[in-house]
Amino acid sequence: MIKKAEFGRRRRKLMNFMGNNSIAILPSASELVRSRDTDFRFRQHSDFHYLSAFPEPEAVLVLLPGREQGEYIIFCREKDEVMETWHGRRHGQSGAKKQFGCDDAFPIDDIDDILPGLMEGRERIYYEFGNQAEFDNRIMGWINILRGQVKQGAHPPGELIDLSHVLHDMRLFKSNAEIEVMRKVAKLSADAHIQVMKICQPGINELQIEAEIKYQFAKQGARFEAYNSIVAGGENACILHYVENDCELKNGDLLLIDAGAELQGYAADITRTFPINGKYSDEQRQAYHWVLKANKQAIKQVKPGNPWTKPHETAVRVLTEGLLEMGILTGDIDELIDQQAYKVFYMHKTGHWLGLDVHDVGDYLIDKEPRILEQGMVLTVEPGLYFSPKTKGLDKKWWGIGIRIEDDVLVTSKGHEVLSKSAIKEINAIEKLMVKPT
Ligand code: GLY
Ligand code: MN
Ligand code: MN
Repeated sequence: MIKKAEFGRRRRKLMNFMGNNSIAILPSASELVRSRDTDFRFRQHSDFHYLSAFPEPEAVLVLLPGREQGEYIIFCREKDEVMETWHGRRHGQSGAKKQFGCDDAFPIDDIDDILPGLMEGRERIYYEFGNQAEFDNRIMGWINILRGQVKQGAHPPGELIDLSHVLHDMRLFKSNAEIEVMRKVAKLSADAHIQVMKICQPGINELQIEAEIKYQFAKQGARFEAYNSIVAGGENACILHYVENDCELKNGDLLLIDAGAELQGYAADITRTFPINGKYSDEQRQAYHWVLKANKQAIKQVKPGNPWTKPHETAVRVLTEGLLEMGILTGDIDELIDQQAYKVFYMHKTGHWLGLDVHDVGDYLIDKEPRILEQGMVLTVEPGLYFSPKTKGLDKKWWGIGIRIEDDVLVTSKGHEVLSKSAIKEINAIEKLMVKPT
Protein backbone atom coordinates (compact mmCIF):
# COMPACT_ATOMS: atom_id res chain seq x y z
CA MET A 1 0.00 0.00 0.00
CA ILE A 2 1.37 3.39 -0.91
CA LYS A 3 1.43 5.47 2.25
CA LYS A 4 -0.34 8.76 2.83
CA ALA A 5 3.04 10.43 3.35
CA GLU A 6 4.10 9.56 -0.19
CA PHE A 7 1.08 11.32 -1.66
CA GLY A 8 2.07 14.31 0.48
CA ARG A 9 5.65 14.21 -0.83
CA ARG A 10 4.34 14.21 -4.40
CA ARG A 11 2.24 17.30 -3.74
CA ARG A 12 5.20 19.00 -2.00
CA LYS A 13 7.46 18.25 -4.95
CA LEU A 14 4.94 19.57 -7.42
CA MET A 15 4.34 22.72 -5.34
CA ASN A 16 8.09 23.36 -5.01
CA PHE A 17 8.31 23.22 -8.78
CA MET A 18 5.31 25.51 -9.26
CA GLY A 19 6.54 28.12 -6.83
CA ASN A 20 4.42 30.56 -4.84
CA ASN A 21 2.07 32.82 -6.75
CA SER A 22 0.65 29.86 -8.59
CA ILE A 23 -2.34 27.55 -8.34
CA ALA A 24 -2.87 24.02 -9.65
CA ILE A 25 -6.39 22.83 -10.42
CA LEU A 26 -7.16 19.21 -11.21
CA PRO A 27 -10.66 17.75 -11.61
CA SER A 28 -11.42 14.11 -10.85
CA ALA A 29 -12.66 11.72 -13.52
CA SER A 30 -16.39 11.75 -14.22
CA GLU A 31 -18.85 8.91 -14.12
CA LEU A 32 -19.83 7.58 -17.54
CA VAL A 33 -23.22 6.17 -18.45
CA ARG A 34 -23.07 2.64 -19.84
CA SER A 35 -26.79 2.23 -20.31
CA ARG A 36 -29.85 3.92 -18.78
CA ASP A 37 -29.32 4.32 -15.03
CA THR A 38 -26.20 2.17 -15.22
CA ASP A 39 -22.70 3.58 -15.19
CA PHE A 40 -19.38 2.10 -16.21
CA ARG A 41 -17.39 1.18 -13.12
CA PHE A 42 -15.79 4.41 -11.94
CA ARG A 43 -12.03 4.75 -12.23
CA GLN A 44 -10.26 7.78 -10.84
CA HIS A 45 -8.14 9.84 -13.22
CA SER A 46 -4.55 8.67 -12.80
CA ASP A 47 -3.14 12.17 -12.19
CA PHE A 48 -5.83 12.91 -9.62
CA HIS A 49 -5.15 9.61 -7.90
CA TYR A 50 -1.38 10.17 -7.98
CA LEU A 51 -1.73 13.41 -6.03
CA SER A 52 -4.61 12.62 -3.70
CA ALA A 53 -5.66 8.94 -3.52
CA PHE A 54 -9.17 10.43 -3.25
CA PRO A 55 -11.42 7.87 -4.94
CA GLU A 56 -14.61 9.79 -5.70
CA PRO A 57 -16.00 11.52 -8.80
CA GLU A 58 -17.29 15.10 -8.64
CA ALA A 59 -14.14 16.32 -6.91
CA VAL A 60 -11.57 19.00 -7.65
CA LEU A 61 -8.09 19.18 -6.17
CA VAL A 62 -6.46 22.57 -5.70
CA LEU A 63 -2.87 23.29 -4.70
CA LEU A 64 -1.88 26.76 -3.52
CA PRO A 65 1.83 26.78 -2.67
CA GLY A 66 2.71 29.14 0.14
CA ARG A 67 -0.89 29.87 1.18
CA GLU A 68 -0.87 30.38 4.93
CA GLN A 69 -4.42 29.17 5.58
CA GLY A 70 -3.69 25.90 3.78
CA GLU A 71 -2.01 24.82 0.57
CA TYR A 72 -4.08 21.74 -0.27
CA ILE A 73 -7.81 21.93 -0.84
CA ILE A 74 -10.34 19.40 -2.06
CA PHE A 75 -13.81 20.21 -3.31
CA CYS A 76 -16.00 17.12 -3.05
CA ARG A 77 -19.55 15.87 -2.63
CA GLU A 78 -21.23 16.51 0.70
CA LYS A 79 -22.30 13.66 2.89
CA ASP A 80 -25.95 12.89 2.16
CA GLU A 81 -27.86 10.13 3.90
CA VAL A 82 -30.34 9.55 1.09
CA MET A 83 -27.76 9.60 -1.70
CA GLU A 84 -25.48 7.33 0.32
CA THR A 85 -28.31 4.88 0.92
CA TRP A 86 -28.92 4.63 -2.81
CA HIS A 87 -25.47 5.06 -4.32
CA GLY A 88 -22.83 4.29 -1.71
CA ARG A 89 -20.71 5.93 0.95
CA ARG A 90 -19.08 9.32 0.52
CA HIS A 91 -16.13 10.74 2.43
CA GLY A 92 -17.55 14.23 2.61
CA GLN A 93 -15.44 17.20 3.64
CA SER A 94 -14.46 15.82 7.03
CA GLY A 95 -13.34 12.53 5.48
CA ALA A 96 -11.35 14.36 2.84
CA LYS A 97 -9.47 16.17 5.59
CA LYS A 98 -9.06 13.28 7.99
CA GLN A 99 -8.30 10.47 5.59
CA PHE A 100 -6.73 12.24 2.68
CA GLY A 101 -4.83 14.95 4.49
CA CYS A 102 -6.12 18.08 2.81
CA ASP A 103 -5.85 21.33 4.74
CA ASP A 104 -9.37 22.35 3.86
CA ALA A 105 -12.33 20.82 2.05
CA PHE A 106 -15.45 22.43 0.59
CA PRO A 107 -18.66 21.15 -0.99
CA ILE A 108 -18.27 20.77 -4.75
CA ASP A 109 -21.47 22.78 -5.20
CA ASP A 110 -19.72 25.83 -3.71
CA ILE A 111 -16.82 25.80 -6.15
CA ASP A 112 -18.10 28.68 -8.29
CA ASP A 113 -18.25 30.91 -5.23
CA ILE A 114 -14.88 29.91 -3.78
CA LEU A 115 -12.45 29.09 -6.58
CA PRO A 116 -12.21 32.53 -8.26
CA GLY A 117 -11.20 33.94 -4.88
CA LEU A 118 -8.46 31.31 -4.56
CA MET A 119 -7.18 32.13 -8.06
CA GLU A 120 -7.16 35.83 -7.38
CA GLY A 121 -3.67 37.26 -6.96
CA ARG A 122 -1.92 34.12 -8.27
CA GLU A 123 0.14 34.68 -11.41
CA ARG A 124 0.07 31.20 -12.91
CA ILE A 125 -2.58 28.49 -13.25
CA TYR A 126 -1.31 24.94 -13.68
CA TYR A 127 -4.01 22.94 -15.38
CA GLU A 128 -4.38 20.11 -17.92
CA PHE A 129 -6.26 21.63 -20.82
CA GLY A 130 -8.01 19.33 -23.26
CA ASN A 131 -8.92 16.48 -20.91
CA GLN A 132 -12.42 17.62 -20.02
CA ALA A 133 -13.85 20.24 -22.37
CA GLU A 134 -16.60 21.23 -19.98
CA PHE A 135 -14.16 21.86 -17.16
CA ASP A 136 -11.87 23.83 -19.53
CA ASN A 137 -14.78 26.21 -20.04
CA ARG A 138 -15.34 26.55 -16.33
CA ILE A 139 -11.70 27.49 -15.79
CA MET A 140 -12.05 30.19 -18.45
CA GLY A 141 -15.29 31.29 -16.82
CA TRP A 142 -13.62 31.74 -13.42
CA ILE A 143 -10.74 33.67 -14.99
CA ASN A 144 -13.27 35.89 -16.76
CA ILE A 145 -15.05 36.60 -13.48
CA LEU A 146 -11.75 37.96 -12.14
CA ARG A 147 -11.07 39.88 -15.36
CA GLY A 148 -14.43 41.56 -14.90
CA GLN A 149 -13.37 42.69 -11.45
CA VAL A 150 -10.06 44.32 -12.40
CA LYS A 151 -11.43 47.82 -11.86
CA GLN A 152 -12.37 46.79 -8.33
CA GLY A 153 -8.74 45.78 -7.80
CA ALA A 154 -8.84 42.08 -8.73
CA HIS A 155 -5.66 40.51 -10.07
CA PRO A 156 -6.50 37.65 -12.47
CA PRO A 157 -3.83 35.05 -13.28
CA GLY A 158 -1.92 35.97 -16.43
CA GLU A 159 -0.38 32.63 -17.35
CA LEU A 160 -1.86 29.21 -18.04
CA ILE A 161 0.67 26.41 -17.82
CA ASP A 162 0.24 22.75 -18.75
CA LEU A 163 0.22 20.82 -15.47
CA SER A 164 0.74 17.50 -17.22
CA HIS A 165 4.25 18.37 -18.31
CA VAL A 166 5.78 18.37 -14.83
CA LEU A 167 3.35 15.91 -13.31
CA HIS A 168 3.90 13.29 -15.99
CA ASP A 169 7.63 13.57 -15.63
CA MET A 170 7.21 12.85 -11.93
CA ARG A 171 5.01 9.84 -12.70
CA LEU A 172 7.57 8.42 -15.12
CA PHE A 173 10.01 7.76 -12.25
CA LYS A 174 8.64 5.16 -9.90
CA SER A 175 9.37 5.28 -6.15
CA ASN A 176 10.29 2.18 -4.16
CA ALA A 177 6.71 1.89 -2.94
CA GLU A 178 5.35 2.11 -6.50
CA ILE A 179 7.86 -0.48 -7.67
CA GLU A 180 6.72 -2.80 -4.90
CA VAL A 181 3.11 -2.53 -6.11
CA MET A 182 4.18 -3.02 -9.74
CA ARG A 183 6.16 -6.13 -8.78
CA LYS A 184 3.06 -7.50 -7.09
CA VAL A 185 0.68 -6.79 -9.94
CA ALA A 186 3.11 -8.24 -12.49
CA LYS A 187 3.53 -11.36 -10.36
CA LEU A 188 -0.17 -11.97 -9.87
CA SER A 189 -0.83 -11.33 -13.57
CA ALA A 190 1.95 -13.77 -14.46
CA ASP A 191 0.30 -16.34 -12.18
CA ALA A 192 -2.96 -15.93 -14.11
CA HIS A 193 -1.12 -16.54 -17.40
CA ILE A 194 0.38 -19.72 -15.98
CA GLN A 195 -3.00 -20.87 -14.72
CA VAL A 196 -4.64 -20.53 -18.13
CA MET A 197 -1.77 -22.39 -19.80
CA LYS A 198 -2.67 -25.26 -17.49
CA ILE A 199 -6.38 -25.34 -18.28
CA CYS A 200 -6.23 -24.55 -22.00
CA GLN A 201 -7.36 -27.25 -24.43
CA PRO A 202 -8.94 -27.46 -27.86
CA GLY A 203 -12.70 -26.93 -27.92
CA ILE A 204 -13.03 -24.38 -25.15
CA ASN A 205 -13.95 -20.81 -25.95
CA GLU A 206 -11.79 -17.68 -25.73
CA LEU A 207 -14.44 -16.32 -23.37
CA GLN A 208 -13.81 -19.11 -20.87
CA ILE A 209 -10.13 -18.23 -20.87
CA GLU A 210 -10.98 -14.56 -20.35
CA ALA A 211 -13.23 -15.53 -17.43
CA GLU A 212 -10.46 -17.60 -15.86
CA ILE A 213 -8.02 -14.68 -16.17
CA LYS A 214 -10.45 -12.28 -14.51
CA TYR A 215 -11.12 -14.83 -11.78
CA GLN A 216 -7.42 -15.34 -11.14
CA PHE A 217 -6.82 -11.59 -10.96
CA ALA A 218 -9.70 -10.99 -8.57
CA LYS A 219 -8.87 -13.97 -6.42
CA GLN A 220 -5.43 -12.49 -5.87
CA GLY A 221 -6.82 -9.12 -4.86
CA ALA A 222 -6.81 -7.28 -8.18
CA ARG A 223 -10.44 -6.66 -9.00
CA PHE A 224 -9.92 -5.10 -12.40
CA GLU A 225 -8.02 -5.72 -15.58
CA ALA A 226 -5.67 -2.85 -16.47
CA TYR A 227 -7.14 -3.02 -19.98
CA ASN A 228 -9.50 -5.32 -21.86
CA SER A 229 -7.79 -8.69 -22.08
CA ILE A 230 -6.90 -9.94 -25.54
CA VAL A 231 -7.60 -13.67 -25.83
CA ALA A 232 -6.91 -14.48 -29.44
CA GLY A 233 -6.84 -17.98 -30.86
CA GLY A 234 -5.29 -18.69 -34.27
CA GLU A 235 -5.53 -15.87 -36.79
CA ASN A 236 -7.39 -13.66 -34.30
CA ALA A 237 -3.92 -12.98 -32.89
CA CYS A 238 -3.13 -11.08 -36.10
CA ILE A 239 -5.69 -8.45 -35.04
CA LEU A 240 -3.58 -6.44 -32.64
CA HIS A 241 -6.38 -5.15 -30.42
CA TYR A 242 -8.70 -8.15 -30.73
CA VAL A 243 -11.12 -8.10 -27.78
CA GLU A 244 -14.18 -9.97 -29.04
CA ASN A 245 -12.85 -13.07 -27.28
CA ASP A 246 -15.74 -15.23 -28.44
CA CYS A 247 -14.28 -17.94 -30.69
CA GLU A 248 -13.72 -21.61 -30.06
CA LEU A 249 -10.06 -22.57 -29.62
CA LYS A 250 -8.90 -24.99 -32.31
CA ASN A 251 -6.52 -27.90 -32.12
CA GLY A 252 -3.26 -26.93 -33.84
CA ASP A 253 -3.65 -23.17 -33.36
CA LEU A 254 -1.73 -20.86 -31.08
CA LEU A 255 -3.38 -18.79 -28.38
CA LEU A 256 -2.14 -15.26 -27.76
CA ILE A 257 -3.13 -13.76 -24.42
CA ASP A 258 -2.38 -10.13 -23.64
CA ALA A 259 -3.67 -9.55 -20.13
CA GLY A 260 -2.61 -7.63 -17.06
CA ALA A 261 -4.28 -6.76 -13.80
CA GLU A 262 -4.57 -3.42 -12.08
CA LEU A 263 -3.56 -3.15 -8.43
CA GLN A 264 -3.89 0.07 -6.45
CA GLY A 265 -4.18 1.77 -9.82
CA TYR A 266 -0.96 0.29 -11.25
CA ALA A 267 -0.99 -1.82 -14.39
CA ALA A 268 0.69 -4.98 -15.52
CA ASP A 269 0.82 -5.64 -19.27
CA ILE A 270 1.89 -9.17 -20.16
CA THR A 271 1.54 -11.24 -23.33
CA ARG A 272 2.23 -14.92 -23.73
CA THR A 273 1.58 -17.11 -26.77
CA PHE A 274 1.28 -20.87 -26.49
CA PRO A 275 -0.14 -23.84 -28.41
CA ILE A 276 -3.75 -24.66 -27.64
CA ASN A 277 -3.00 -28.39 -27.68
CA GLY A 278 0.22 -28.00 -25.69
CA LYS A 279 2.72 -28.65 -28.51
CA TYR A 280 4.18 -26.09 -30.94
CA SER A 281 4.12 -27.15 -34.63
CA ASP A 282 7.33 -26.75 -36.65
CA GLU A 283 6.35 -23.38 -38.11
CA GLN A 284 5.00 -22.13 -34.78
CA ARG A 285 8.21 -23.23 -33.08
CA GLN A 286 10.39 -21.40 -35.61
CA ALA A 287 8.43 -18.17 -35.43
CA TYR A 288 8.24 -18.36 -31.63
CA HIS A 289 11.98 -18.92 -31.42
CA TRP A 290 12.64 -15.61 -33.19
CA VAL A 291 10.11 -13.60 -31.22
CA LEU A 292 11.53 -14.99 -27.97
CA LYS A 293 15.05 -14.17 -29.10
CA ALA A 294 13.94 -10.62 -29.98
CA ASN A 295 12.26 -10.31 -26.58
CA LYS A 296 15.37 -11.44 -24.69
CA GLN A 297 17.84 -9.41 -26.73
CA ALA A 298 15.66 -6.31 -26.45
CA ILE A 299 15.33 -6.74 -22.66
CA LYS A 300 19.13 -6.83 -22.44
CA GLN A 301 19.16 -3.32 -23.86
CA VAL A 302 17.03 -1.99 -21.02
CA LYS A 303 19.64 -0.26 -18.88
CA PRO A 304 20.47 3.25 -17.75
CA GLY A 305 22.16 5.29 -20.45
CA ASN A 306 20.55 3.54 -23.41
CA PRO A 307 18.01 5.45 -25.50
CA TRP A 308 14.54 4.05 -24.96
CA THR A 309 14.47 3.15 -28.69
CA LYS A 310 17.39 0.72 -28.37
CA PRO A 311 15.21 -2.29 -27.40
CA HIS A 312 13.04 -1.62 -30.47
CA GLU A 313 16.01 -1.37 -32.81
CA THR A 314 17.38 -4.60 -31.36
CA ALA A 315 14.06 -6.41 -31.73
CA VAL A 316 13.70 -5.23 -35.33
CA ARG A 317 17.14 -6.61 -36.23
CA VAL A 318 16.49 -10.00 -34.62
CA LEU A 319 13.03 -10.30 -36.19
CA THR A 320 14.33 -9.33 -39.63
CA GLU A 321 17.06 -11.93 -39.28
CA GLY A 322 14.37 -14.44 -38.35
CA LEU A 323 12.20 -13.51 -41.34
CA LEU A 324 15.24 -14.12 -43.55
CA GLU A 325 16.05 -17.43 -41.88
CA MET A 326 12.46 -18.60 -42.24
CA GLY A 327 12.54 -17.67 -45.92
CA ILE A 328 9.74 -15.16 -45.56
CA LEU A 329 11.93 -12.22 -46.58
CA THR A 330 14.87 -12.33 -48.96
CA GLY A 331 17.67 -9.82 -49.42
CA ASP A 332 20.26 -7.96 -47.40
CA ILE A 333 19.44 -7.54 -43.72
CA ASP A 334 20.54 -3.89 -43.49
CA GLU A 335 18.63 -2.94 -46.61
CA LEU A 336 15.54 -4.76 -45.38
CA ILE A 337 15.74 -2.91 -42.05
CA ASP A 338 16.20 0.41 -43.88
CA GLN A 339 13.17 -0.34 -46.04
CA GLN A 340 11.21 -1.46 -42.96
CA ALA A 341 10.33 -4.68 -44.78
CA TYR A 342 9.56 -6.27 -41.37
CA LYS A 343 6.59 -3.93 -40.93
CA VAL A 344 4.23 -6.26 -42.83
CA PHE A 345 4.75 -8.77 -40.02
CA TYR A 346 5.73 -6.50 -37.13
CA MET A 347 3.79 -3.27 -37.32
CA HIS A 348 3.99 -1.95 -33.76
CA LYS A 349 6.71 -0.59 -31.50
CA THR A 350 8.53 -2.77 -28.99
CA GLY A 351 7.23 -1.03 -25.88
CA HIS A 352 5.85 1.88 -23.93
CA TRP A 353 6.05 3.32 -20.41
CA LEU A 354 4.00 1.44 -17.82
CA GLY A 355 2.54 2.70 -14.55
CA LEU A 356 -0.81 4.02 -13.39
CA ASP A 357 -1.86 3.98 -17.04
CA VAL A 358 -1.06 0.95 -19.14
CA HIS A 359 0.30 3.25 -21.83
CA ASP A 360 1.79 5.43 -19.17
CA VAL A 361 2.66 9.10 -19.29
CA GLY A 362 6.09 10.64 -19.82
CA ASP A 363 7.82 12.11 -22.85
CA TYR A 364 9.50 9.71 -25.27
CA LEU A 365 11.55 12.46 -26.89
CA ILE A 366 13.63 15.17 -25.26
CA ASP A 367 14.74 17.94 -27.65
CA LYS A 368 13.65 15.67 -30.50
CA GLU A 369 16.04 12.92 -29.34
CA PRO A 370 14.86 9.58 -27.91
CA ARG A 371 14.75 9.73 -24.14
CA ILE A 372 17.60 8.08 -22.27
CA LEU A 373 16.60 5.31 -19.87
CA GLU A 374 17.09 6.06 -16.18
CA GLN A 375 16.68 4.14 -12.96
CA GLY A 376 13.05 3.94 -11.82
CA MET A 377 11.43 3.96 -15.25
CA VAL A 378 9.22 0.99 -16.13
CA LEU A 379 8.53 -0.03 -19.72
CA THR A 380 7.22 -2.98 -21.65
CA VAL A 381 9.22 -5.04 -24.13
CA GLU A 382 6.82 -6.67 -26.55
CA PRO A 383 8.10 -7.87 -29.91
CA GLY A 384 5.84 -9.95 -32.13
CA LEU A 385 5.30 -11.52 -35.51
CA TYR A 386 1.91 -11.66 -37.18
CA PHE A 387 1.35 -13.88 -40.20
CA SER A 388 -2.14 -12.99 -41.34
CA PRO A 389 -3.76 -15.06 -44.11
CA LYS A 390 -4.40 -11.68 -45.74
CA THR A 391 -0.68 -11.08 -46.33
CA LYS A 392 -0.01 -11.19 -50.06
CA GLY A 393 2.52 -13.79 -51.19
CA LEU A 394 2.94 -15.40 -47.76
CA ASP A 395 3.32 -19.18 -47.90
CA LYS A 396 0.17 -20.81 -46.52
CA LYS A 397 2.10 -22.77 -43.93
CA TRP A 398 2.59 -19.56 -41.90
CA TRP A 399 -1.02 -18.42 -42.02
CA GLY A 400 -2.71 -17.70 -38.73
CA ILE A 401 0.45 -17.62 -36.65
CA GLY A 402 0.38 -14.52 -34.45
CA ILE A 403 2.92 -14.30 -31.66
CA ARG A 404 3.76 -11.61 -29.12
CA ILE A 405 5.86 -12.02 -25.98
CA GLU A 406 5.50 -9.04 -23.68
CA ASP A 407 7.30 -8.38 -20.42
CA ASP A 408 7.29 -5.53 -17.92
CA VAL A 409 10.78 -4.25 -17.21
CA LEU A 410 12.09 -1.89 -14.53
CA VAL A 411 15.24 0.10 -15.19
CA THR A 412 17.56 -0.42 -12.20
CA SER A 413 20.81 1.33 -11.27
CA LYS A 414 22.92 -1.22 -13.13
CA GLY A 415 20.51 -2.72 -15.67
CA HIS A 416 17.01 -4.02 -15.32
CA GLU A 417 14.60 -6.24 -13.45
CA VAL A 418 11.93 -8.17 -15.37
CA LEU A 419 8.85 -7.71 -13.20
CA SER A 420 6.90 -10.31 -15.18
CA LYS A 421 9.65 -12.93 -15.05
CA SER A 422 7.54 -15.60 -13.39
CA ALA A 423 5.39 -15.94 -16.53
CA ILE A 424 7.28 -18.72 -18.24
CA LYS A 425 8.16 -18.21 -21.90
CA GLU A 426 10.65 -20.91 -22.93
CA ILE A 427 9.18 -23.44 -25.38
CA ASN A 428 10.20 -26.45 -23.27
CA ALA A 429 8.87 -24.97 -20.05
CA ILE A 430 5.50 -24.16 -21.65
CA GLU A 431 5.14 -27.58 -23.29
CA LYS A 432 6.04 -29.29 -20.04
CA LEU A 433 3.56 -27.23 -18.04
CA MET A 434 0.80 -27.98 -20.55
CA VAL A 435 1.12 -31.76 -20.42
CA LYS A 436 -2.23 -32.92 -19.05
CA PRO A 437 -2.21 -35.57 -16.34
CA THR A 438 -3.46 -38.87 -17.80
N1 GLY B 1 -2.03 -4.40 -23.96
C1 GLY B 1 -1.72 -3.24 -24.68
C2 GLY B 1 -0.32 -3.20 -25.07
O1 GLY B 1 0.35 -4.21 -25.07
O2 GLY B 1 0.22 -2.18 -25.34
MN1 MN C 1 2.01 -3.21 -23.99
MN1 MN D 1 -0.07 -5.83 -23.85
